[in-house]
Amino acid sequence: MSVPALSGRVFLLITGASQGIGRQIAESFAPLLGDGSLVLLLARSASGLQETAGKLSGKIKVHTVSVDLSTATADKLRDIIGTALTPAGAKQFEKAVIVHNAASVGDVSQSTVAMTDFQVWRDYYDLNVFAPAVLNGVFMEFFNADAKVARLVINITSKCGIEPFKSMAYYCSGKAAREMFFKVFAVEYPNVNVLNYSPGPVETDMLRTVQTNIGDPEVKEAFVQLATSRSALTTEQTVSRLVKILESQNYKSGQHVDYYDSGY
Ligand SMILES: NC(=O)c1ccc[n+]([C@@H]2O[C@H](COP(=O)([O-])OP(=O)(O)OC[C@H]3O[C@@H](n4cnc5c(N)ncnc54)[C@H](OP(=O)(O)O)[C@@H]3O)[C@@H](O)[C@H]2O)c1
Repeated sequence: MSVPALSGRVFLLITGASQGIGRQIAESFAPLLGDGSLVLLLARSASGLQETAGKLSGKIKVHTVSVDLSTATADKLRDIIGTALTPAGAKQFEKAVIVHNAASVGDVSQSTVAMTDFQVWRDYYDLNVFAPAVLNGVFMEFFNADAKVARLVINITSKCGIEPFKSMAYYCSGKAAREMFFKVFAVEYPNVNVLNYSPGPVETDMLRTVQTNIGDPEVKEAFVQLATSRSALTTEQTVSRLVKILESQNYKSGQHVDYYDSGY
């Protein structure tokens, strides 16, 4: 299979690659990359990152860096990317791809009026909104227009970013803000290919956390139903859909495309 957006000599950065959807993105994208490609995997768990790296073909180079993205400074992110690119720099690549996948679901036990702690809000937004925005800017410093590298930015978003779910105000508002950031980026930089991909309900730790901790009984029932009816998707299913969407390129840059949307 050849997916033009992922073919050739590619620099691929994936956040949240130590498990779940991020690990699967690494596994499914790696065989599509050409010789000389380099994959940079970020998350906190060094062992999880190593396990992901062990699943990737020996023909591409893989760097893993254990980093807490909620506290990493822009300089730290510059250092991580700069070190991975050394010594030949950005120009050795034909394509640069970044997947903003890392996220947390936050506290899903409370209703909106109970969310009165500024620090909890700040901590949540640090990881889920500010970190992808800053990392994206740093990535674009390396892969700027002068580097003459085709750029693809994938933000892993959610239906929760466009539809309200009770007890999920941290997650829903964070996903909405993060998605809008990438929509603004897409209109400012029409030469960059930007996709907001919503993966559907997927069997991962995040989904299990919601099923266990969600406060609102109606929403809990809907999430538990996903488990009992076995209708949640596997990571393979959602990432192969993402690959098909990238292959079709039938979306407008910045668009929100959901797993269940037809025509892609
Ligand atoms: N699962 C679903 O049903 C579903 C539905 C819609 C959207 N999504 C989205 O899909 C993406 C992946 O979620 P998932 O379901 O695969 O969740 P997951 O299994 O919980 O994975 C989350 C990833 O984010 C990383 N991460 C969390 N906090 C971090 C931090 N402070 N610094 C660096 N990395 C951090 C985790 O690695 P470490 O713990 O090692 O740091 C892990 O690799 C998220 O954006 C999520 O919102 C998921």
